[in-house]
Amino acid sequence: MGTLVIMAGEGVGPEVVQEARRIVEWFATEGGVDIDTREELYGTKAYDRYGTPFREDAIGDLIAADAVFFGATGGPEFERIPLELRRRFGLLRLRRELGVYANLRPIHYYDALEDAVAVRPEVARGTDILVVRELNGGIYFGEPRGIEPTPDGSRRAVNTLVYTTDEIRRIARSAFALARSRDGRLCSVDKSNVLDNGVLWREVVTEMGREEFPDVALTHILVDNCAMQLVIAPTQFDVLLADNMFGDILSDIGGAIAGSLGMLASASLSDADATGHRRALYEPVHGSAPDIAGRGIANPIGAIASLALALEHSFDASSAARFLEKAIEQTLADGVRTRDIGGSASTTQVGDAILAALRIS
Ligand code: IPM
Ligand code: MG
Repeated sequence: MGTLVIMAGEGVGPEVVQEARRIVEWFATEGGVDIDTREELYGTKAYDRYGTPFREDAIGDLIAADAVFFGATGGPEFERIPLELRRRFGLLRLRRELGVYANLRPIHYYDALEDAVAVRPEVARGTDILVVRELNGGIYFGEPRGIEPTPDGSRRAVNTLVYTTDEIRRIARSAFALARSRDGRLCSVDKSNVLDNGVLWREVVTEMGREEFPDVALTHILVDNCAMQLVIAPTQFDVLLADNMFGDILSDIGGAIAGSLGMLASASLSDADATGHRRALYEPVHGSAPDIAGRGIANPIGAIASLALALEHSFDASSAARFLEKAIEQTLADGVRTRDIGGSASTTQVGDAILAALRIS
């Protein structure tokens, strides 16, 4: 029996998580996947009850679970929690405590959404990219950081972009291995024309390709050019490897190819420990979307597709994952869509349609 801990969070988090929850329950009761789910408060609800955005004691349970399913964080609700606590108990801390350094963000073009994609369909058609984003290091965590006064009475803000060779190696190894299991092409993103960090990144990735993955076709691209190539010729990419911040930015461009940010899923994985246990965190890419929260119109597909990733990577149920992906495609083809992708269906109606597609097939 696998365990899934659900943390719905803020904004549209609880709404989209609710649809994913119904689908997990379907797989557990009728779909033949042994998953036991448990809820853990995150964000303002946890703050009101425990005084912190999640229970400090919950960390051990999250680490022991087979997977954590996270909705969204941020927005005005969350901001009533003191900044110091938000920093100390934020999503970034969860990602770090779990050691889930490999963030997988697929960018998939759906034929049914031809009329909804921002990128011209003839350009986007066939796109199937996996962005592998480093999630536990880089400028998100580097020290020193902070805003400080300067002697002239002004202020300055500092963040540090830092990666060790070991940190680059472990994420590059994940990306190479994933490329090997797909189309065998890896494109590594950096800013080596300006940043020392990019110089080291490129050097380490090149060396690893030569020594450990000579069968994977490795190329390198500067991040600014990569952003443009994703828009004008996305089908050229198979696996894209990027650091924490570049991966954050580039993966959002995927929203223009997949139809909307609400379509994008993510899986974050650690290495397996000595007992073979691998920690995992699944979350839709879209965030809390406070402008539409509470209205029942958020697109649940990013969350539901994240669940498909969980079935695949944490519950050893890749045929269930394919099955769920098919049900998503069927729902889109039937025109059951939320507003962000040109429809008028509610969050729940999309969940209903996906469940119905699962039941029929
Ligand atoms: C994401 C988000 C987060 C990030 C924020 C909410 C901290 O943008 O998951 O892409 O920057 O990692
Ligand atoms: Mg982001």
